Amino acid sequence: MMLEYDKIRQICAFLSDKCEVEPQVAVVLGSGLDKFSEAVEPIKEIPYSDIPYIPVSTVQSHAGSLLVGRLNGKVIAVMRGRVHLYEGNAPADVVRLLRSLIIWGASHVILTNAAGGIAPRLEPGDLMLIEDQINNQGVSSLTGFNDERMGTRFPDMTTLYDEDCNTDIMFCAKSLGIKLHRGVYAGMHGPAFETPAEVNMLRIMGADVVGMSTVLEAEAAHHMGAKVSGITLVSNPAAKKGGEKITHDSVAKASAKGSMALIKLLSAYI
Ligand code: HPA
Repeated sequence: MMLEYDKIRQICAFLSDKCEVEPQVAVVLGSGLDKFSEAVEPIKEIPYSDIPYIPVSTVQSHAGSLLVGRLNGKVIAVMRGRVHLYEGNAPADVVRLLRSLIIWGASHVILTNAAGGIAPRLEPGDLMLIEDQINNQGVSSLTGFNDERMGTRFPDMTTLYDEDCNTDIMFCAKSLGIKLHRGVYAGMHGPAFETPAEVNMLRIMGADVVGMSTVLEAEAAHHMGAKVSGITLVSNPAAKKGGEKITHDSVAKASAKGSMALIKLLSAYI
């Protein structure tokens, strides 16, 4: 069986053949956040279906391509959509492209997502800087053979989200007059939205928002020594008894509406 590292090296070779410059930063765009890609001066756009070993996202609101371009003079790689566990992908599939971007050159990873707000202070349209996470997906992206060329077997997770980067992001938000909460992201397997009882459990566990992505990517990027940042756009209040029903459509619409502040913040920070 082919080693994960060898697949990743092949992907890197493919990407660097298509694109002469290498990215310094990798950005992963979540549901409803694709508009960020319009701020990028494109160098090359590659559909996921052209990249070896990369599963294609089946989520309709995700564009499904890798955009390499310039933003404020920095070369960045933007994943326009991601694949999720709930689509039937293995944990290694979920993080393969991100790992490849790190080996290719990105030393800083910015993960974005839409999520349900659990903490009462969070309202739809609010942004939250991820300070820490709870991986409640039942698997880790580090499961299986550990290739020391990528990282250590038992990586420390005390400072998974880079504190210096978070300080800088908070500073940017303040300068732009953007309200930016801070808190804990809980990743669930999905694809069903949570039951009210599950949301209650997550609240007791210390989660401020809940989504179905991000946690595996953060683990894998940190494992490889990349700096990790994460920003959540609160798209809806998480499920509660007597609350409104949650649909993917309403999540995508609400996040598109609140996405402008996130795009401004990301551009300023990068
Ligand atoms: N739960 C899980 N994932 C989500 C939610 C939610 O309420 N909103 C957007 N993504």
